[in-house]
Amino acid sequence: MGEHSAAAGEPGRTVFVRVPATSANLGPGFDSLGLALSAYDELTVTALPAGELDIEVTGSGADEIPRDASHLIVTTIQHVFEAFGRTAPGLRLVARNGVPHGRGLGSSAAAVAAGVLAAAGLLAGDVDLTDEDLLRMANEVEGHPDNVAPALFGGLTIAWLDENGAPHHKKLLVHRGVAPVVFVPETTMSTKTARSVLGPEVPREDAVFNVSRSALLIAALTQSPDLLLAATEDKLHQNYRAASMPETDKLVRALRAAGFAAVVSGAGPSVLVLADGPGRRAEAAELVAQVSDTPWETLMLAVDFKGGTVRETPVGAARHDS
Ligand code: HSE
Repeated sequence: MGEHSAAAGEPGRTVFVRVPATSANLGPGFDSLGLALSAYDELTVTALPAGELDIEVTGSGADEIPRDASHLIVTTIQHVFEAFGRTAPGLRLVARNGVPHGRGLGSSAAAVAAGVLAAAGLLAGDVDLTDEDLLRMANEVEGHPDNVAPALFGGLTIAWLDENGAPHHKKLLVHRGVAPVVFVPETTMSTKTARSVLGPEVPREDAVFNVSRSALLIAALTQSPDLLLAATEDKLHQNYRAASMPETDKLVRALRAAGFAAVVSGAGPSVLVLADGPGRRAEAAELVAQVSDTPWETLMLAVDFKGGTVRETPVGAARHDS
């Protein structure tokens, strides 16, 4: 960060944060792969005197989000300050949520990534967080590195935990021929509920099936979009979850039968299609309108290559791009 209007963590310091939506799993890459998409949560955070709290939220999910100290961004900022031995200041948060809530598009990962980046911005000059620190902090709060890695770093990410439970990631650039479109239903699904229907074991042949498809998916997304249909097959999670989101399952099946690389986005219930080109994406949207009995909002999105950003306001201050 460059010129500061107030010292690190001091009342008056203000940062602006922007974080993309993310789609985890991408079919076979359960708990490992994620893609950043061009819908954004935006957040302005101002440090206040200790103990003060003022929260304003507009946009997706605004009616359900708490305005007190239990707000996920507030608890995340506090977590980061404490992890680095600092006391969090009071906070004023102004959030504009563009990431659909509870739909499998990483809304909680976006909030956690926003909190970590806001804390990094407020602490800059006193404590300067590395990318590794950002991911570790976000994973400690969120526990889903497949969503927080692309939310922080953008692009296609492979995330993994080492033997000590520490998260790591590799970011890849996506082939420009890949055109994502997301179909968002009116219903929501909690990741906790979607995980409760998964058993502790899977057949070895299913594990092998997913290993091959995940490896192929990296090739398809970075080099050969024509392979996306085969590369998005999965046997580890989507079938187990089908009964808990029947409309999603029905739509994924209809799209795949017509040759579209459709998957459940994250833990659902949105459906992500990785089309090989904008023309195919428009055809997918037409098919959804024809086959579905329930309403789906169509989001024609781009892959976000930048990930979450934080800069100190007023505009003109240096930028911390992760
Ligand atoms: N991979 C997670 C799941 C979702 O499918 O349960 C987001 O991390």
